Amino acid sequence: MRLTQTLLFALATTTLAAPLESEFVATGFRDPMELAIAPDGDIYVVEREGRILRVRPTTGAIFEIGTLKVTALREKEKDSPWAREDGLLGIALDPKFAENQRLFLYYSDPEKLLNRLSRFELRGGKIDLASEKMILEVPGDRRDRVCHHGGSVAFAPDGNLYLSTGDNTNPFESDGRAPIDDRDGRDHVNAMRSAGNTNDLRGKILRIRPTENGYEIPPGNLFPPGTEKARPEIYVMGCRNPFRMSIDPKTGTLYWGEVGPDGQNPDAKGPAGHDEVNQAKKAGNHGWPFVIADNKPYPIVDFSNGQPGAMTDPEKPLNPSKFNTGLKELPPAVPALIWYPYAASNEFPSMGNGGRNAMAGPVFYHDPNRTYNLLSSADNRTLLTYDWMRGKMWKAKLDDRENLTALEVLMEGLNHPMDLEMAADGTLWLLEYGTNWYFNTDGRIRRIRPDDGNQSPKLTVERDSNNPLKFTAKDVSDPENDKITIEWWLNTGLEETKLGTGSNITIPPGGIDLRAVAIDAKGNRTISRVPLVEESNLPALTLEIIGKPEAATFGDALKFKITGPADPKQTIVRARYLPPTGHDSGGPQLPSEIEKTLTARQCLACHQVDRTSVGPHYLDVALKYRGKADALAHLKAKLKSGGAGVWGEVPMPPQITVTDSEADTLLKAILGLAEGISQTRGANEGTLTLSPAPESPQPGGAWEITAEAPGHSPARLRLNAN
Ligand code: HEC
Repeated sequence: MRLTQTLLFALATTTLAAPLESEFVATGFRDPMELAIAPDGDIYVVEREGRILRVRPTTGAIFEIGTLKVTALREKEKDSPWAREDGLLGIALDPKFAENQRLFLYYSDPEKLLNRLSRFELRGGKIDLASEKMILEVPGDRRDRVCHHGGSVAFAPDGNLYLSTGDNTNPFESDGRAPIDDRDGRDHVNAMRSAGNTNDLRGKILRIRPTENGYEIPPGNLFPPGTEKARPEIYVMGCRNPFRMSIDPKTGTLYWGEVGPDGQNPDAKGPAGHDEVNQAKKAGNHGWPFVIADNKPYPIVDFSNGQPGAMTDPEKPLNPSKFNTGLKELPPAVPALIWYPYAASNEFPSMGNGGRNAMAGPVFYHDPNRTYNLLSSADNRTLLTYDWMRGKMWKAKLDDRENLTALEVLMEGLNHPMDLEMAADGTLWLLEYGTNWYFNTDGRIRRIRPDDGNQSPKLTVERDSNNPLKFTAKDVSDPENDKITIEWWLNTGLEETKLGTGSNITIPPGGIDLRAVAIDAKGNRTISRVPLVEESNLPALTLEIIGKPEAATFGDALKFKITGPADPKQTIVRARYLPPTGHDSGGPQLPSEIEKTLTARQCLACHQVDRTSVGPHYLDVALKYRGKADALAHLKAKLKSGGAGVWGEVPMPPQITVTDSEADTLLKAILGLAEGISQTRGANEGTLTLSPAPESPQPGGAWEITAEAPGHSPARLRLNAN
């Protein structure tokens, strides 16, 4: 019996410009948001729904060190318009972490309408929740699909703490332009109340100096303490969703990625949406929601009649909103360092085109005394930037005055890169969020180093069929034929124990997981993990077909009844025809070459085959359009132009990277998913009509009928087909 999951393997083809080696040291994270590297090399990770984990990269150990109660979107209410982007958002370790075991977390309060920055202490390897010391609170809104909380936390070398916050605004009801709806009751679509407001902490990067009991305002922020109608914590204002930031270790210059609005082409209501990579050598106003990109201005649109009014002057932006509690005249706007729309960028062609979610990583300095130098000495002072949607990382070369001189792709094929940090030894650690927009279980940590040409060893682990506590390393090999040492590590909760070395091991009962670490003569490692505890058992559903028919055929109407603790609104009953011959793929599935293209075109960020995500699941799409003659034409046009309204209010951005013939192939495969399948949603009792017959049905086969609900183990039964 093979039980293992090999975590660590070299990726041969993801690097472009530089010979880099990239390996996964830990996987299985659920929507991981931000990471922090401790002085001892351990990595702390926070997850959106509140878990905090410690990872030991050398052995692949993952310790669950605490769970914070937070407001976050949960799978049970995945379509809720409430708190779409709230959660446990950011983490930073105290500069004296090795001595005081203190860390800072930024999270959405479980009840109150605010996000909070708090300091916690570790005790006995766990977060001591009672040690919480509130540092700062950012009041905000969670209603009606407001998004954008930023949430990156970082310390500068001088000990100041930076916190990014978003505009906390619904971005879907302003035509992809500036959300500046000044009508009563529409303040959730108005970033003039937040990002453009000098008296509000949202849509900002705050800069404070933590003290034992709170914080002080360091000199050099945008508004000196005592300025009327302005918060002294503000370092940068005019941000939309400054998601991940970093601070140059030598100059203290601040960098951040800014996710921009959806607008396609410029029109009377303003410029096309752009994402930005920003640089702040000093405090400033970066313009949102009045300018974007290289200071392209928006007019002040009157949302009661859609008419554009006065055009913003980037030198002297004004905030005319009746919801503005701050200064009317704002500091001059600062243009972005790098900016790019959905379409190919004229200014920065290496950014490519397509979906966008800009993020900023560390600045690389070449240091001959450090263990690893990711780039050459010619790349001294290079900002690493990345994009969550495009799955790429770029190197942005800066000159002595920190001006951008070159921009090129460094890596691609990253699975939603979420946070990027460089350790003291020069290793680059990348947190990958996972495949989907929400509810991932495949988030992972990737280690990136210069390629030394040596490949990692290989192994798998087998459990003894007679003795469940005995394990053997199998298929152990090394591409360079090095001598391999195998270490066995047992995770006991908050610590791990090295059980021994050698090709097999007998373990004591009670561990959480076992890892076999193969180490070659040059120190390269491969980790194979065996889970020892089953995932917790979910409550079960039962399914009954009324009348208990022996067999059924295409087009039959079956009466069903589901029992179990699930909310009937969330249940789905589905019937799938299994032909008498051939291989059963085990569910609605797309061919692997289609999956590959969908991955490459980033479709899977918003779509899954049979689970609703940001967009509808593809089986739902196929069922909706079954038998409709113009389905393919409609869907092709929709991919090209994007849009909302068929499945909900969230729009699909135009999928401009997809060619015509690719769209044809993808959509035909998606529509093909409905073959033999039917479903009924949202009721515990009702009728399920089996799918229409295919063109030349074969006799026999079977029907598989399943009932599912989030958080429950599904019920399944079979009927013969006749
Ligand atoms: C950023 C998120 C996002 C991405 C990326 C995305 N979609 Fe969508 N998609 C959506 C949303 C949201 C909808 C629902 C739109 C609506 O309600 O009209 C949708 C709808 C669809 C539909 C159904 C359209 C209809 O009118 O019924 C298809 C088919 C589809 N997407 C295919 C794709 C393909 C193929 C890709 C990749 C090339 C892709 N999508 C990428 C979000 C996305």
